[in-house]
Amino acid sequence: DTGNTPQKDTGSMPTVKQNKGGLEGIIAATTAISKVDGTAGRLIYRGYDIHDLARTSTFEEVAHLLWFGHLPDQKELASLHEKFVAERTIPELVLHNIRELPDNSQPMDVLRTAVSAWGAISISGKPSIDQAIAATARFPLFLAAFNRYRQGLEPLESRSELGHAANYLYLLTGELPKEEHVRGLNSYLVLLADHGMNASTFTARIVASTESDIASSLVAALGALKGPLHGGAPSKVQDMIHSIGSVENAEPWIRNAITTGGRLMGFGHRVYKTFDPRAEELREMARVADPDNFLLAHHVEETAQRLLDELKPGRRLYTNVEYYSAALMNAVGLSGDLFTPTFAVSRCAGWTAHILEQANNNRLIRPEAEYTGPLSETFVPLSERK
Ligand code: ACO
Repeated sequence: DTGNTPQKDTGSMPTVKQNKGGLEGIIAATTAISKVDGTAGRLIYRGYDIHDLARTSTFEEVAHLLWFGHLPDQKELASLHEKFVAERTIPELVLHNIRELPDNSQPMDVLRTAVSAWGAISISGKPSIDQAIAATARFPLFLAAFNRYRQGLEPLESRSELGHAANYLYLLTGELPKEEHVRGLNSYLVLLADHGMNASTFTARIVASTESDIASSLVAALGALKGPLHGGAPSKVQDMIHSIGSVENAEPWIRNAITTGGRLMGFGHRVYKTFDPRAEELREMARVADPDNFLLAHHVEETAQRLLDELKPGRRLYTNVEYYSAALMNAVGLSGDLFTPTFAVSRCAGWTAHILEQANNNRLIRPEAEYTGPLSETFVPLSERK
């Protein structure tokens, strides 16, 4: 039961009307890529439970799973790694675009611009797995190049022996990353790679359904991910925890925020009405990666949970994936403005898998709107309007 009521439209087609707006409960597509079970708190990529994947797989294995439909054997994984390595280049024109943007630009805007410029010179034709690999391999390169330029440094060459997570950290810092940082970032990239019909994936599919190209779909998806109600929340979680500042201040700060109608960043989800399984994994990783900062984050979580239950009874608001993402990314050394674009580094695998699924069995996505404006205004020529 979607909770939606079939209704007669003014035209000939029967339509489904939403109760609350925001397409809540509407099934907009069929997909074999991932399933979000919001009641049981489960996330499944092509049949595999997210907990198993996050603890044992590399991002490349999961990307292979999403694109090809099965986990790779060793030969397939080695071949995918070679393809990633071959794609780790930035065309001069794209580098020029990145270099020319002001140092205080948002990395998310830089990434969107770089993907657009790269698409203009590198992408044509129907979306393909090769294009998906080419895009996914480059997201970290675009971000790291900007991060170096804004520090007055030149971008670095990728290292072919490093996997996706390790190479990203290396390109950002110029140092071989610590094993625990690579492990933490890799698990994060696995956990966020896909998530059903979220806003940015839906956006990517809409663009793909017009038979546009893969780069255009990705640029649109990046725009959708940027907002704080979707991927833009983790740095805001960090701001919230900084602003709370101490264990003693948690209760009054949170109580005031909820009673004055504020939203607690990193809490609530459209689909999960129980604990987000990704948050569970991230909480453990954040605990290990940065035990000192974890204490306040965990206290804020527990206090917020108790006060949300008290002040918003029946809403079932729990920690979402963004809450501990901030703590983990901070612990692996990423600056706050890289949190959302790093989400995109991961989600590029899911977006491209969905773009391929849409393109390979396409029908234009074109819903209807219920018109609520006037129907019979009398037209007055411009010269006579007052
Ligand atoms: N803090 C306080 N109250 C909340 C929160 C929150 N974070 N989230 C929802 N609520 C309340 C609403 O005020 C509303 O209460 P009301 O019935 O008294 O008006 C009720 O819960 C239902 O809220 P909706 O807006 O209908 O929920 P929706 O499904 O649209 O929202 C969303 C989901 C956008 C994620 C929301 O929970 C939110 O704004 N969270 C904070 C931002 C955030 O964490 N974003 C990251 C999302 S995860 C991701 O996309 C990767």
